[in-house]
Amino acid sequence: MSNSIAIASGKGGVGKTTIAVNLSLTLSQMGSKVSLMDADFGLANAHILLGINPKKTIRDLLKNGLPLEDIIETGPSGLKFISGGNGLIDILNIEKNSKYQLIRALNPIQKNTDTLVVDIPAGASENSMTFASAVDKLIIVLVSEPTSFMDAYTFIKTAKLDHGIHNFSIVVNMTYDEKEAENTFVKFRNIVNKFLDANLTFLGGVPRSKKIQNAIIRKLPIVLDKNAELEKLAFQRISKKIIKAGENNNNGIRFFSKDQ
Ligand SMILES: Nc1ncnc2c1ncn2[C@@H]1O[C@H](COP(=O)(O)OP(=O)(O)OP(=O)(O)O)[C@@H](O)[C@H]1O
Ligand SMILES: [Mg+2]
Repeated sequence: MSNSIAIASGKGGVGKTTIAVNLSLTLSQMGSKVSLMDADFGLANAHILLGINPKKTIRDLLKNGLPLEDIIETGPSGLKFISGGNGLIDILNIEKNSKYQLIRALNPIQKNTDTLVVDIPAGASENSMTFASAVDKLIIVLVSEPTSFMDAYTFIKTAKLDHGIHNFSIVVNMTYDEKEAENTFVKFRNIVNKFLDANLTFLGGVPRSKKIQNAIIRKLPIVLDKNAELEKLAFQRISKKIIKAGENNNNGIRFFSKDQ
């Protein structure tokens, strides 16, 4: 059965796209059929990390009526990739129907997809929340900084109170080691659970790494780099845990839903 995962954060620049791309590739390498959608329509950039130059984007689907199969690219490790296309924020912000149209447009790939990964924009905007509500599993990327804690908390609060999302899986990025990652998670969970009844699960940490920083310049995702064992291991650990992570079954429009 297919499942869907979104990568969110609240705060921008904490590593959502890095994690969406490398988690997708790791799941592919582990034998899953994975599709990655870049839903950061304002500043879509997952294709750059993947080293792909997409000819068509979601704009062609929404504005020009192109079928989904015409905009899907095949990336490394057989990953299927749907590019966001810049400047789409205009139509998606205005029209709720465009977002629903896009979620429904992905239905045909369900039969060839084990896992759909969605890279969603920073912030707790209506766009972010629509996609966060439409997936089974929601990953929040956190870094050990007060601003990241504050924005991740705001995101979780909005998701829980306004959209009925209860399960959140946490990845701590830019860590020194796994112990520090876990300590950051525990600190954050204590803050959240003081105010909200939400279920937070620790998926693991991703080390702060010069190699990850340079990957975008080399256009070689870190998990495909032969000299990045530590980074690869981190993504393998997270991939194994996400398979068991809690799912959300909130109401509303969802990816791969039959009753739409
Ligand atoms: N673990 C890491 N170690 C070192 N640098 C990192 C790490 N993770 C991400 N970065 C760097 O941080 C910057 C932001 O990463 P990324 O684009 O993935 O964040 P984002 O959350 O998707 O940002 P945005 O909110 O703009 O979409 C990039 O330059 C990236 O290379
Ligand atoms: Mg991003």
